[in-house]
Amino acid sequence: MVELKTIPDIKVTPPGPNAKKLLELDDKYISPSYARFYPLVVDSAKDCLLKDVDGNTYLDFNAGISVVNVGHSHPKVVKAIQNQATKLIHYSNTDFYYEESLLLAEKLCNVTPGNFPKRVFFTNSGAEAVEASFKVARWHTRRPQIVAFTKGFHGRTMGALSLTGSKVVQRRWFFPLVPGVTHVPFGYCYRCAFKEEYPGCDFQCINYIDEVVFETFLPPEETLGFLFEPIQGEGGIVVPPDGYFQRLRKLAAKHNMLLIDDEVQTGLGRTGKLFAIEHWGIEPDVIAIAKGIAAGLPLGACVAKANIMDWDPGAHASTFAGNPVSCVAALATLNILADENLVDNAARLGESCIKRLKEMQEKYELIGDVRGKGLFIGIELVKDRKNKKPAKEEAHEIIFQCFKKGLAIITAGYSTIRIAPPLVITEELMEIGLEIFEEVLRNVNAG
Ligand SMILES: Cc1ncc(COP(=O)(O)O)c(C=O)c1O
Repeated sequence: MVELKTIPDIKVTPPGPNAKKLLELDDKYISPSYARFYPLVVDSAKDCLLKDVDGNTYLDFNAGISVVNVGHSHPKVVKAIQNQATKLIHYSNTDFYYEESLLLAEKLCNVTPGNFPKRVFFTNSGAEAVEASFKVARWHTRRPQIVAFTKGFHGRTMGALSLTGSKVVQRRWFFPLVPGVTHVPFGYCYRCAFKEEYPGCDFQCINYIDEVVFETFLPPEETLGFLFEPIQGEGGIVVPPDGYFQRLRKLAAKHNMLLIDDEVQTGLGRTGKLFAIEHWGIEPDVIAIAKGIAAGLPLGACVAKANIMDWDPGAHASTFAGNPVSCVAALATLNILADENLVDNAARLGESCIKRLKEMQEKYELIGDVRGKGLFIGIELVKDRKNKKPAKEEAHEIIFQCFKKGLAIITAGYSTIRIAPPLVITEELMEIGLEIFEEVLRNVNAG
């Protein structure tokens, strides 16, 4: 057991000498398209702690970007992986059968919202889960058009990228993308595209879709539905207001359209529910899952209503997807989330963290908005609260200074600090992280 007072533990100012050597290799051989936040070179990780290659210990507020919800190298996940690796590593689920993927598919159909028959298509990543969701919806409806949302992030493959509307750098020079995607403003009340205020707005952002988009340039009968993140992650931890998804569901029903819920980042307990859309009681027609599902092994899934996943044999497949090692890691992950009450832990700690951050908001002008659910929290920084100009440099300075002090934390959107630790985090560790954050924030806020 590591003593709390030794967390974090920065022995050598990072990047230390071993990190520097490896960074040289990165500089020479790795694609420059990766946009790193700071030079953290990870050597090992356990629960909520990371060790770098120079022996420094960091508290992890990133969870490998919302992936290791059950903590790094949970012993039950490690054991499941080890046992499976000695038994069967791969045999292509698309051409043959094995028990592990079938058991996981059954489980996913049972734990996803909606008490109706479902089917699962396995993938290796979040982008592929989104691709599969988009493809199955097109195939089933025979409608070529889809509506996605500004600031939404859905991945980088051409189909997923066509749905992504988060940052222009992600799309620049990649056109032409997949045709048939229309982006509309998301329910981002802090920066309402219509300059309205909730709840007086009567969901102008949804009315606009019906009254302008579907009336003037996008025929609804050619549109298969909506693809969205229930809480936008990469876009800045944007939580739409209560009632938003109910209105979207109503609009979809009016035009016989599907709701496709991208839970890649919000799923598996992150927001204090197993799937974030459950906060609003909506049962999506299709759900894309990845990241947290297999505690760090590559796996994704598209879970759809059985009558929607009705494509022909050969219509879609993937050699590695749903490989048995990832599947047993996912089965172990789902058991751990339930056995250790991690979803409740996320809800409880998230609530106290947001309360603490709102107190900071009263003290520090830099904090424009605090929002989130469970352990998926955003602190949006602004240069001044009136004009809400994003405080990008300040946000980057804060996460860099936190890193130097042993807190691994990153941004989302342009100037939102993202808090997304493993869900096994304790109150004490959370407090240690928040204290470091506040100390750094105080300094940066003071200029
Ligand atoms: C909501 C959402 N969808 C899709 C993706 C793409 O997932 P991947 O990076 O595994 O392809 C991400 C990744 O951050 C995501 O946050």
